[in-house]
Amino acid sequence: MRMRAAVLHEQGRSKPYAESTPLTVEELDIEGPREGEVLIEMVAAGLCHSDLSTIEGQRPRKLPTVLGHEGGGVVRDVGPGVRELAVGDHVVLGPVLGCGECRDCLSGHPALCTASLAAKSQGMMLDGTSRLSWNGEKIFHTSGVSCFAEFSVASELSVVAIDPELPLAEAALFGCAVMTGLGSVVNTARVPAGAAVAVVGLGGVGLSAILGAVLVGADRIIAVDLHDEKLSLAGEIGATHSFRASDPDCIEAVRELTGGGVDFAFEMSGVTQGMKTAYDLVRRGGTMVTASLPNIADEFSVNAYDLVSGEKSVRGCYMGSCVPSRDIPKFLRMYKRGRLPVEKLMSALITLDDINTGYDRLSDGKVARQVIEFS
Ligand SMILES: NC(=O)c1ccc[n+]([C@@H]2O[C@H](COP(=O)([O-])OP(=O)(O)OC[C@H]3O[C@@H](n4cnc5c(N)ncnc54)[C@H](O)[C@@H]3O)[C@@H](O)[C@H]2O)c1
Ligand SMILES: [Zn+2]
Ligand SMILES: [Zn+2]
Repeated sequence: MRMRAAVLHEQGRSKPYAESTPLTVEELDIEGPREGEVLIEMVAAGLCHSDLSTIEGQRPRKLPTVLGHEGGGVVRDVGPGVRELAVGDHVVLGPVLGCGECRDCLSGHPALCTASLAAKSQGMMLDGTSRLSWNGEKIFHTSGVSCFAEFSVASELSVVAIDPELPLAEAALFGCAVMTGLGSVVNTARVPAGAAVAVVGLGGVGLSAILGAVLVGADRIIAVDLHDEKLSLAGEIGATHSFRASDPDCIEAVRELTGGGVDFAFEMSGVTQGMKTAYDLVRRGGTMVTASLPNIADEFSVNAYDLVSGEKSVRGCYMGSCVPSRDIPKFLRMYKRGRLPVEKLMSALITLDDINTGYDRLSDGKVARQVIEFS
């Protein structure tokens, strides 16, 4: 079958992307689903910074590839052996692909699944092959979903069926941004009510962490970013205080406000400078959780004496430590009841043809989530 998809042929092109066009919308061939896979007609797909990092060349990828790892759509065909999904189901797609059998999957950490990581890092489906091609030339998958396209073939393990009444544009954000940001608060850190929380970096992921902090009843919710637009949006969704990261007094001001620092600092800026800021905001005995994926060569260091004498913790967080089939339906129920106003994270609905301009805007740091709507 032929379909339109946004293809990345080369990493590291210069900005503005509207001119250098790292992504080109092309007609590709997509094969039908094989064992354990489904064909999904895409309705919506979110623009995440992780795909921007791929465009920038922050980490190597098999090329050419179709990006996109956060989406919503409708199942149009099911391959042999599919158990949980049927034609017509509304689904959320995300980058977590747990094989269900390895030690990490069995211990409730499918995002860490080594078996699927091997396939994903080769730009392949779980069976080591691709369903995408152009005039017979192989095209690589991204995160097993490649959803910047009119159709996606995905393992049923990458997909969660959702309530068909929910709008798929908002539901798409649960595939990565909400899963990661909200999950970092409720799963990775398990923040208790009354805690003092800071969030550094207020994109789709950081703003979802703010929603999580509100949900669990954190007392102080401190938003930190470079852009005033982001700080005011954080205020609208429940941040109690906000600070500009570029303000030289930022750390001191937060320490003064909280009597020595926050219990939990969540770092979602995508840069090691943000990690440093978040670590410095943590009180003695507190925890810094980072979900940032900066350049693959970047290192982050802390003062060893301060870490030990202050009994501080530093934790990585991948996909909010979520089990998608457990957490996405639960998070969506809270969204449906109005307890998670994810719609406020939607900055714009765009078309597939506007994708390069969308990445220019994301790169400028002033928008939260932009979502491609497929007509
Ligand atoms: N660990 C995971 O599972 C996971 C999942 C999704 C995204 N990510 C990563 O999380 C990061 C955030 O993703 P996003 O899509 O929300 O990004 P985004 O670009 O939408 O948001 C990043 C925000 O950080 C702010 N920022 C930049 N530098 C800063 C600094 N020095 N101090 C404070 N704020 C700063 C920007 O102004 C922007 O508001 C990226 O690195 C992305 O790759 C990780
Ligand atoms: Zn993402
Ligand atoms: Zn596994």
